[in-house]
Amino acid sequence: MRAKKSSQPVKAKRTPQIWAFVNGKGGAGKTTSVINLSIAGQRRGHYASVLDLDILKSAERWSELRAELTGEEEPVIVHGAPDKLKEMIDTVLDEGSDLVLIDTPGSLDRTMLLAAQVSDIVVIPTRTSVLDQNALRDTLEFLGLAEKLSKCVVLLNATAKGQANDIAKVRSVAKEFDVPVAGVGIEDLPAFGTTLAKGRGAVEARGKAAKNIEAAFDEIETHRARIMRAAGSK
Ligand SMILES: Nc1ncnc2c1ncn2[C@@H]1O[C@H](COP(=O)(O)OP(=O)(O)OP(=O)(O)O)[C@@H](O)[C@H]1O
Ligand SMILES: [Mg+2]
Repeated sequence: MRAKKSSQPVKAKRTPQIWAFVNGKGGAGKTTSVINLSIAGQRRGHYASVLDLDILKSAERWSELRAELTGEEEPVIVHGAPDKLKEMIDTVLDEGSDLVLIDTPGSLDRTMLLAAQVSDIVVIPTRTSVLDQNALRDTLEFLGLAEKLSKCVVLLNATAKGQANDIAKVRSVAKEFDVPVAGVGIEDLPAFGTTLAKGRGAVEARGKAAKNIEAAFDEIETHRARIMRAAGSK
């Protein structure tokens, strides 16, 4: 795998951050989160890269659509085999990336563990229905067996009014595993679909979806800093 050449200037060196997005269930919002948060990161001055480990190449294909519709080549989004993850990370770091987001398929498998292994933080986007609650429990159990729970944070996705009970149940599943739930969730908004269809991220349009992504970005950075501090103090 070779990363696409980027015209982004190599910025002053920041400590690289590596964020993985996982959930054993498909459709939870991993790819939507990864794409939108990477664009948010880029707009904040990060040199963001996305490593797409899903055989469907949803993120990489979307970046081709983005290039076609908008001429934008960034963030760099490349697909690769999970076995090549470490090399992919080295490549994008060598090219100057300081924010690497890893998108994974919706399944409880080795790819999830490889992504969790190399990441500073493991973000688990989840919807809130009973099906999602059960998938979240399975995902946390799986990550627990691999001793990765201390890196995890749950990110509520596609929330809507009237879900208070379901959200409380998601929180209680997370609590069973002592895993925090990000203080802000991402709402169920058509803008996430419509902006992506135009090759844009939510933060490149104004509105609620943009605010949701900015707030989620802040939350993830805060949780990552906490996780890094805790790991450093061991
Ligand atoms: N917050 C949201 N509001 C509205 N639609 C959303 C939201 N998040 C995701 N979607 C939509 O839900 C669908 C699934 O999202 P996405 O592809 O990001 O999930 P995924 O976890 O990557 O799934 P998979 O495991 O199959 O790759 C997409 O059609 C996406 O546009
Ligand atoms: Mg996906």
